Amino acid sequence: MEPVQFGQYPPARRTLLHLSDTHLLAENRPLGGRFDTAANLRRTLHAVERLGIRPDAIVFTGDLTDLGEPEAYRELRAAVEPVAERIGAPLIWVAGNHDERPALRSELLGLDPTQEPVTGVWDLGGLRLIALDTTVPGWHHGDLDSEQLEWLRGLLASPAPLGTILAMHHPPLPSHIPLFDILELRDQSRLADVVAGTDVRAILAGHLHYSTSGTFAGIPVSVAAATCYTMDLARPAVDVNGMDAGQSFHIVHVYDDTITHAVVPVVEAQTGDYFSAEWVERMLALSPQERLEAFSRKPQTP
Ligand SMILES: [Fe+2]
Ligand SMILES: [Fe+2]
Repeated sequence: MEPVQFGQYPPARRTLLHLSDTHLLAENRPLGGRFDTAANLRRTLHAVERLGIRPDAIVFTGDLTDLGEPEAYRELRAAVEPVAERIGAPLIWVAGNHDERPALRSELLGLDPTQEPVTGVWDLGGLRLIALDTTVPGWHHGDLDSEQLEWLRGLLASPAPLGTILAMHHPPLPSHIPLFDILELRDQSRLADVVAGTDVRAILAGHLHYSTSGTFAGIPVSVAAATCYTMDLARPAVDVNGMDAGQSFHIVHVYDDTITHAVVPVVEAQTGDYFSAEWVERMLALSPQERLEAFSRKPQTP
């Protein structure tokens, strides 16, 4: 059904789905000998379709494949494109440290297989989305060279009607897990200098395999966990390892004055059945005061 407004905020102007770290291997070899990344992606895509929405884009923030094999990109495309087509959403692929630019470019984007950074700009009905490439060929840590930073500076010189969202793999945030310090985005102050004071309203990232958020140069940063495996954070930081559980993705709602990032768990679990489209219809038929009486009023205590 159409979005409704029961409170002070009109429905979101734009909606994005933010997925990350699919880490596919060719012929679906198990990742690390234990994780069925294709099955876990399928479960995630099933959850995406079950949302029953038509998002303005689906953004994958990198580590699309684990080893950059051309076949793995083809398998990723075969899994994701039909879903994107059915829900009418453009796909935005961002490169991660596990990707290889030439294969990503040729197999996912139909471009020449070069080492050029995988960047792009999308106009999503006035919302500008800019994909950055934080990868460093041959390495797992992240960096942004002067050329890419100057390209970004040039784009941001003119604002977009609904503002700008950046999508990148390595988050410009600290992690409490030591291993990620080694694989961090380096020289972050240079990026801060480019984005400060611009119309960038949010930064989407991945890489950590757990969901977290913070601010960077005053801009909210949201990291989506992975579809393949996630980090078991319920441990001392030095003992954190991957587990085949806790997979999730984000629904990004873009409002006039704020952007929210809702974490969607990918899990099969029993739910209640109290709320439904019929329930919303019943509420719609009431006046705001009647709705408060019907749903907010606590029972009288004797
Ligand atoms: Fe990853
Ligand atoms: Fe990564």
